[in-house]
Formats: sequence, structure tokens, C-alpha cells
Amino acid sequence: MTELTTNTQTLLLNDGHRIPQVGFGAMRVPKEGILDALNAGYRLLDTATIYKNEQDVGDAIRQSGIPREQLFVVTKLWNTDHKRVEAALDESLKKLGLEYVDLYLIHWPWSEIEGTDHEVYTDWTFVDTYKALQKVYKTTGKIRSLGVSNFTIAQLEQLSSDKDIDVVPAVNQIEAHPLLTQPKLMAYLESKNILAQAYSPLGGSGNFLFKYKEVTDMASRYGVTPAQLLISWGVQRRTVVIPRSATRSRIESNIRTFTLKDADFEALNTLSDTYGVIRNNDTWRFTPGEE
Ligand SMILES: NC(=O)c1ccc[n+]([C@@H]2O[C@H](COP(=O)([O-])OP(=O)(O)OC[C@H]3O[C@@H](n4cnc5c(N)ncnc54)[C@H](OP(=O)(O)O)[C@@H]3O)[C@@H](O)[C@H]2O)c1
Repeated sequence: MTELTTNTQTLLLNDGHRIPQVGFGAMRVPKEGILDALNAGYRLLDTATIYKNEQDVGDAIRQSGIPREQLFVVTKLWNTDHKRVEAALDESLKKLGLEYVDLYLIHWPWSEIEGTDHEVYTDWTFVDTYKALQKVYKTTGKIRSLGVSNFTIAQLEQLSSDKDIDVVPAVNQIEAHPLLTQPKLMAYLESKNILAQAYSPLGGSGNFLFKYKEVTDMASRYGVTPAQLLISWGVQRRTVVIPRSATRSRIESNIRTFTLKDADFEALNTLSDTYGVIRNNDTWRFTPGEE
């Protein structure tokens, strides 16, 4: 019988703060679902300006009655806000009804011009954005930890080689699951003490990972759901995992994790040797094989 426990583990960030290891992906989840997550024990809520539900996240937090200091709230700067970082952060804080966020991420390393079809500025890059955010981080107290999302090794190197940047991102939030293990990027992040936060841990909206018999058979063998297996695998490789669900029973079961046997952990680590690497999100932004 597999022992499942509500996962309240935390990991240490490079800036000294701690982050819950299983968080709640709040994208497109209404207030009721976010409240269900808080009641189920999640203490990390992952939202973003572009999800347009920061207000719901804030309302759920207040309705839950959970003290602010027990929560870890993540939000993200949208692509068209790269030249106005503090104003965008202030708007997010206002919608959330909070004085600070625990983690603020650059959602994508793309500084896009509002109203265009992903056209990027020629006089501004994510390096400029990060520098502007570093200033807000150092001077205002509105950001507890500063991080990035969807950054490749080359882009992280661009940050670290800039003479004006001395705050190493605390987190890189990336798509990660058994068919996108990103070994080179994970090794790089570990070497720089940047924590990986794994999004789409179930394969995103279509849950394509549930189609693989290795996943479903292994889950049945343990007597757990495929989602619990995938989330537990992400925990075991020391990532922060942020599954999303708007269904109360799934919200409640997804935070309950267990330890996989070494051979099973390894079998999931190498699943892409059989099926290839599959990136679910916005493939046009990445060169195939890029990490
Ligand atoms: N930084 C970025 O660029 C980025 C990109 C994508 C996502 N994210 C973040 O990562 C979070 C999670 O990623 P994601 O939303 O792409 O996908 P995901 O968590 O991998 O999968 C979500 C899907 O799985 C279903 N699901 C959840 N638990 C289940 C269970 N136990 N059994 C069966 N189905 C289940 C959900 O359906 P129901 O709702 O019907 O249960 C939903 O359709 C997002 O909410 C967001 O916060 C960040």
C-alpha cells in the first residue's frame, strides 16, 4: 500500500527564502478553485498578469483567512510590460490586494510591442528588463524573490555576464515532465543555484502524458493516480511542481505525494529515450532541442 502524504515540504532559494515544493497552478482557475486549493493545503499560488485572475487569487486569499506570511504568491510580468516593470508590478499588487509578492518572474524573455503580432523591441531586451526589476527588487520591498520563466541556458548566461546584474534569479519556471526532462538546463540551473519550477507537470490541458502506458501502468501498480505519480516524480527530482486543476477532488489528490522506487524514478527520467522529447507550450518560441 503506497503511503501518500499531503506535501508541505519547502526548498531553500538562493536568496534565503523558502518555497513550497508543491504549488497550485492558478491559470484559468476561478476563485472557488483557488479557495479549494488553499483549503486543501497548498500554500504556493502561481498566477500571472496574462492569466487575468490576480483579483480572484487575492479574493481567495482573503476569504481563506490564512495569514499572508504563510503564503507564497507568484505572479509574472507580461511580455508587453517589459518597459514598464514597476507600473505593471503595482497593477498586479493592486489586483492581488497585497503589499509584496513572494516571487516575481519575467514570464518570457521577449520584450514585445503592445498591439503587434509578437513584434519585439529593437532597443530593449530581457536583460534591460531584468536590470529594471533588479532595481525594484533592491529598493522597494515589493518583491521578495526575483526570477525568470522560459529562459534558456544562453539567455541565463546573457544575464550573468552583464556587469550591472548581481542578483542571480532565484527561480527559472520551465515546462518540465518525463517527456521534457531538460537535463542540460537542469544541470546548469543546479550549478548556478537557480531552482527549477516545473509547469505543465501533467502535460498541460490535454494531459498527453496520461496516454503512455508506462505512466498509467506504473500509477496503477502504486495504487495512485497518474497525476500523483507525475507530481511525485517532479518532487523527487527536486523541482517545485505546480499542477493546475479546477476540480476539487483533483485539487485535493494532487497535493498528496509519495516516494517512487529508484528503478521507477529512473524509468520516468528516461521515458523520452523511447518516445522523444515533447514540448507542449508555445514551441514557436524555442529552437527544437534548445535548453
Ligand atoms: N510560465 C509559463 O509560461 C507557464 C506556462 C504554462 C503553465 N504555467 C503554470 O503552470 C501551471 C500548470 O500547468 P498547466 O496548466 O499547463 O498544466 P497541468 O497542470 O500539467 O495540467 C492541467 C490539466 O490537467 C487536468 N488535471 C489536473 N489534475 C488532474 C488529475 N488529477 N487527473 C486528471 N486530470 C487532471 C486539469 O483539468 P481540470 O481542471 O479539469 O481538473 C487541466 O486540464 C499553470 O496553472 C500555470 O500556473 C506557466
